[in-house]
Amino acid sequence: MHQKVLVLDFGGQYNQLIARRVRELGVYCDLLPPEMGVEKIKEYSPIGIIFTGGPNSVYEEASPKIDPAVFSLGIPVLGICYGCQLTAHILGGKVEKAASSEYGKAEVTYLPSPVTEGLPERAVSWMSHTDRITELPAGFTKIASSAHCPYAAFGDIKRKIYGVQFHPEVNHTEYGILILKNFLYNVCGAAGDWTMSNFVADKVAELREKIGNKKVLCAMSGGVDSAVAATLVHRAAGANLTCVFVDHGLLRKNEAEEVMAVFRDGLGMNLIKADAGAVFLEKLGGVTDPEQKRKIIGAEFIRAFEAQSKQIGKVDFLVQGTIYPDVIESGKGKSAVIKTHHNVGGLPSVVDFKEIIEPLRDLFKDEVRKVGLELGLPKSVVMRQPFPGPGLAIRIMGEVTEEKLRIVRDSDFILREEIAKAGLDEKIWQYFTVLTNSKTVGVQGDFRTYEYVLAIRAINSVDAMTADWARIPYELLERIAGRIANEVEHVNRIVYDITSKPPATIEWE
Ligand code: XMP
Repeated sequence: MHQKVLVLDFGGQYNQLIARRVRELGVYCDLLPPEMGVEKIKEYSPIGIIFTGGPNSVYEEASPKIDPAVFSLGIPVLGICYGCQLTAHILGGKVEKAASSEYGKAEVTYLPSPVTEGLPERAVSWMSHTDRITELPAGFTKIASSAHCPYAAFGDIKRKIYGVQFHPEVNHTEYGILILKNFLYNVCGAAGDWTMSNFVADKVAELREKIGNKKVLCAMSGGVDSAVAATLVHRAAGANLTCVFVDHGLLRKNEAEEVMAVFRDGLGMNLIKADAGAVFLEKLGGVTDPEQKRKIIGAEFIRAFEAQSKQIGKVDFLVQGTIYPDVIESGKGKSAVIKTHHNVGGLPSVVDFKEIIEPLRDLFKDEVRKVGLELGLPKSVVMRQPFPGPGLAIRIMGEVTEEKLRIVRDSDFILREEIAKAGLDEKIWQYFTVLTNSKTVGVQGDFRTYEYVLAIRAINSVDAMTADWARIPYELLERIAGRIANEVEHVNRIVYDITSKPPATIEWE
């Protein structure tokens, strides 16, 4: 068992980031709603509690609350932004609406305290608030101030309760990580027992115990999550694990071969490849509507997987690559359907199994990657950029054909090759080509051409919820465009997508 920190979610936009930072600092934490109540908090038995920020004002009727008894548990508390105002408000301080909101960088002056140890006297921090604290509760002292905030940070050192008005979790806050580290190690007494090698050892032992000699089935997509989940289970179950990889013919160049080489030939996994490309292409024939394409692919995927699993017969466990953000998201209200996402979430009802195993459900994506490296998976698998379940079909506008697949596949390959050569492959979050449904006039070797317009899409993001278009150097764009125009038949014009998300989405369909 490892130590745990409880991050109480008051609805701020950086909440998952706070939890990721705590984990990166070697301490396990969960992000849970404050409505869980003090009894449940006691049961959870954290070494420290962090209140996140949130969009509300403590004076609003509907603003999220916390039972004041939380401050009497003897567990250290760190309130961030709204969390810090709530702490001051509940304990008898004064929170007031400032004349104007403060967003962005602010210079903060720090005073010595257990949470500011090792910080310089002044440093830049990231603020995002309207209310501010103008009077501290009894027993608290100031540990930081800024031009706007007389109490940019404060604490009751005896009771181990602290508040920071700024956001220590974001990169813009200099020494922000040190503040979190100080809270965890100096105040909460963290031991730093959350490491990925510990996780692998514990998880493999736990899975071994659970699986015993029973049969396990896993749908492998080649994506990071299913690859790491399968490898972890393979360590525990060996030949009792069968993986099915559905090749829907909509994959990138060499992708299917790579998956087979790494997992079947390299790791010796019992991996079955279902070649379903022809069926998918036939079902997609004449279909141009993006949502219809997605639905057809989702349904066919399940059908192909089902056909394979029928041959395997009844299994005891089905492995799913669910990760922690999926768990957090599914606990929240439903948002509008922008796109029907295809993933293996739809499988359970069609496969005959007794129980689902989700070995990664406690991990953030960066932790999943670390586990993958710990398990010896190659970097090309572990650092892979996201790739959508419906594959290249949603990067081809209009009908999907063999010819169009070849165009996106070849152009995507060139793009990836050039991005890697420029040393940007781990710096850009996601990049790919999109084949539009438009043709334009061009001239190649003195001849008029009338060929497709191809788009390059490259974005940076943290969680795919929002994204910014990547500023690829012009020279590199020129090289990529030149190669594509020369090497990929039926393309005579290349454009660069400079739209962020929102208003666009990352994929075009
Ligand atoms: P959008 O286009 O919605 O994409 O901005 C957000 C991220 O999700 C990926 N994506 C998918 N992933 N199944 C997946 O597993 C899907 O159906 C799917 N559609 C989009 C997309 O590549 C981006 O990283």
